[in-house]
Amino acid sequence: MEQMLKIRDMDTILLINNAKEVLDKNWLQGYTSPSIKLYPHQWSWDSGFIAIGYSYFDEERAMREITSLLKGQWFDGMIPHIRYNSLFENYFPEVSFWNIPQRYISLNSMSSGITQPPMITIGAYCYWKNARDSDKAKDFLKEVFPGLMKFHRFLYEERNPLKNGLIAIVHPWESGMDNSLAWDLPLSRINKQDLNNLPGYKRKDTEIVSTEERPDDLNYNRYIYLIELFKSLDYEQRLIVKESPFLVCDILFNTILCRAGECLIEMGRFLKDDVRCVEERLDTTKKSIQKMLWDEKSGLYLNYDLNSRSLIKKPTSSSFTPLFAGIPDHGQAEKIYGYINGVCQCPLDDANFAVPSSIRCEDDFISDNYWKGPVWTNINWIIYKGLKRYNYTNNAEKVKESMLNLISRYGFYEYFDPVKKKGCGINDFSWTAALTIAFAFNVP
Ligand code: GLC
Repeated sequence: MEQMLKIRDMDTILLINNAKEVLDKNWLQGYTSPSIKLYPHQWSWDSGFIAIGYSYFDEERAMREITSLLKGQWFDGMIPHIRYNSLFENYFPEVSFWNIPQRYISLNSMSSGITQPPMITIGAYCYWKNARDSDKAKDFLKEVFPGLMKFHRFLYEERNPLKNGLIAIVHPWESGMDNSLAWDLPLSRINKQDLNNLPGYKRKDTEIVSTEERPDDLNYNRYIYLIELFKSLDYEQRLIVKESPFLVCDILFNTILCRAGECLIEMGRFLKDDVRCVEERLDTTKKSIQKMLWDEKSGLYLNYDLNSRSLIKKPTSSSFTPLFAGIPDHGQAEKIYGYINGVCQCPLDDANFAVPSSIRCEDDFISDNYWKGPVWTNINWIIYKGLKRYNYTNNAEKVKESMLNLISRYGFYEYFDPVKKKGCGINDFSWTAALTIAFAFNVP
């Protein structure tokens, strides 16, 4: 495998070795926790990124990461965003807080009640593409393919309120970009009075990471309010979609779904499965993204608020991500590229830093607060792949270089402050390590 790497210097080799050590530290006999200290359980989209990292050097672990996540799949096909590990009790919300009815899950299954973007499908695809033992890879694909299909089917059947292939998320945690500035507007629909009757709870994250770098308490109360609502609706998807004050067509979720759809089609054809329905769904989603999420005025994709039936006029780094799934046409790609490269965001032409999570020149940009400004490795990897897909090769390389520089200078942080220039959140974060490896290997 080492010969596949374009190693230019010893620093890159050292960085890869350090990244492997981080993954080793977080490996918990079957899955990799994002961070033992802060996030000890298994997270769905994290495992997708982590499996991509493993696919370059440890096929066994890549496979185990995926099968472990699928063990938590609900009977209706949903892959929950957290699969809990009973050995760790110091996490909020703890598993009992979700109170999942037994009819959704197998006995002893410990799970949250919402989902995350289907990154795991892309993880399985990368494992298969990079596998050296092709017979084993084929057997593995046969084993996991039905579960992945079932998850995608769940999304199209249960989370497709307009029946146009645009998947709706019902909780900010489902986006993976928890306190994104784009969610302020839909969350404001939950009034402060509505928060008076919440059950008492104690956050654990702010005991570990400084409060300024985490979502604020008002946001957190609203996250908990939504969980209480879903519990009261007995996790009936139809009712959740009908009642949730937070109901959004998230660009990033739908983009990942499209890329995952492309991967499913390729894997399905290889297995000689009938993938016509996946092709149709992919086509519908791509067309609807073009029709409903593109904002000609800003020259970017925007999230769509289903409750007010309007675009959320708050671009974030997710506005650039449709490049990853080949969604924009040439003209649209040029506009997105121009925006990323403009004074408001990077500028990539003379960048020292990669792409921040929200728009740098806006007043509400906060350089060290979670998804309100910092640079995240996973989004930059998605943007890097997107720029490459559209042949903006030089600039894709700049994103990669900036990301690798940040990581080697500051460590495998969860996110990075592009203004004060420091690592933020927790150190030794798994997807930062896994994607360092993905960035460093010069393979598709
Ligand atoms: C945070 C991130 C989310 C991630 C989780 C575990 O909640 O916002 O995207 O999945 O941590 O790393």
